[in-house]
Amino acid sequence: MSVAALPIRLIAFDELDDPSSRGFDPAGQGRDTLLLVRCDSEVFAYLDACPHYGGTPMAWRKDAYLNGDGTRIVCHAHGAQFDIATGECLVGPCLGQRLTRLDTTVTEDGDVSVFMPPGSASRVGKEGEPEGET
Ligand code: FES
Repeated sequence: MSVAALPIRLIAFDELDDPSSRGFDPAGQGRDTLLLVRCDSEVFAYLDACPHYGGTPMAWRKDAYLNGDGTRIVCHAHGAQFDIATGECLVGPCLGQRLTRLDTTVTEDGDVSVFMPPGSASRVGKEGEPEGET
């Protein structure tokens, strides 16, 4: 039997600049474990876990997940750049790998929610556990 993911409200869509990114800590782990990117009229959510090395957190400071012109998600550890819409690594040491995308929804009231798969928060950010190192 599978367990359905429950939506977690993150923010009002109107609070997001275009383009912009925000980090969130929905599981109360003491650091951001997912990131949200607004691009035009869409929002995209990913686990804040770089596929290059051990699920490394990617922002260089709070909410700083984008490159200078807001066209790509960047992991500031080693400079990998990811497509905003697909999470695919386009430049850097994890070419061909992807960020883990999370489904999102925007309600009629304009609230952005994310669907966290059961147990996903506990898999995020365990330092010293490299996976997919290239
Ligand atoms: S950990 Fe992200 S590019 Fe190396």
